[in-house]
Amino acid sequence: MRLENKVSVVTGAASGMGKSIAILYAKEGAKVVVSDINIEAANATVEEIKANGGEAIAVMANVAKEEDIQHLIDTAVNTYGTVDILVNNAGIMDNFEPAGEIEDEKWERIFAINTTSVMRATRKVLPIFLEKQAGVIINVASAGGLQGARAGAAYTASKHAVVGFTKNTGFMYAQNGIRCNAIAPGGVETNISASMTGRSDFGMGRIMPGLAINPRTGKPEEIATIALFLASDDASFVNGTVVTGDAGWTAY
Ligand SMILES: NC(=O)c1ccc[n+]([C@@H]2O[C@H](COP(=O)([O-])OP(=O)(O)OC[C@H]3O[C@@H](n4cnc5c(N)ncnc54)[C@H](O)[C@@H]3O)[C@@H](O)[C@H]2O)c1
Repeated sequence: MRLENKVSVVTGAASGMGKSIAILYAKEGAKVVVSDINIEAANATVEEIKANGGEAIAVMANVAKEEDIQHLIDTAVNTYGTVDILVNNAGIMDNFEPAGEIEDEKWERIFAINTTSVMRATRKVLPIFLEKQAGVIINVASAGGLQGARAGAAYTASKHAVVGFTKNTGFMYAQNGIRCNAIAPGGVETNISASMTGRSDFGMGRIMPGLAINPRTGKPEEIATIALFLASDDASFVNGTVVTGDAGWTAY
């Protein structure tokens, strides 16, 4: 029970890695606020947690909307009294487009969901964390936040921004009992391809050679264990950094 009585908020927790993180946190004793734009699937995650004896509630939040983030954190506090752990996990893919093929609307949508939401949710929990001089933030970035061609230009830039934001936040609040780290997953078997609306032939052609050197894809549960480590006191000396979970893909 490494997270006993901790209150955690997980965005994008209706599917993939967010769902696995929510389930594992509950198993480790945390009260989990399961948040997603897809409330039916979020409810299903909550049912699964409760069936295993855990405690959770579902909250609908489109992380691209400031008012939804306000409501999400306020609901967590009103229900469980505080927030101890924030996992900024919700995210979408691009279509592997290089710079020359980017549409403004798509770029802005990807940044709103993948990047701006991370800043807004962090900004919202900080007064809570500062008051108690304790708190953990975990941002699900990507191998695409470290390397140049794991996705298209918009996704790559959005996740590089998350990595920079993570380092800055970790350092800024290091003396306030707050830790902020990111996870950089490689290819993980989730439903994220459902967020793709097409594929750039040119972009795919450039990315393909790199896919061939990926040792293997991962399971969402293999990322959840990293998120558990980072949330727990086992990671008390780990701050402002990125933990890669990719079977060695980015080591090449
Ligand atoms: N799957 C991979 O290979 C991979 C690799 C590296 C990083 N990631 C990152 O991992 C995170 C989780 O993705 P996943 O692979 O588990 O995908 P997924 O599609 O299985 O789950 C993502 C969840 O986020 C939700 N979501 C999408 N837009 C949202 C919004 N605007 N507001 C709230 N919720 C929203 C979806 O409904 C879904 O439940 C993302 O940030 C993604 O960029 C994924």
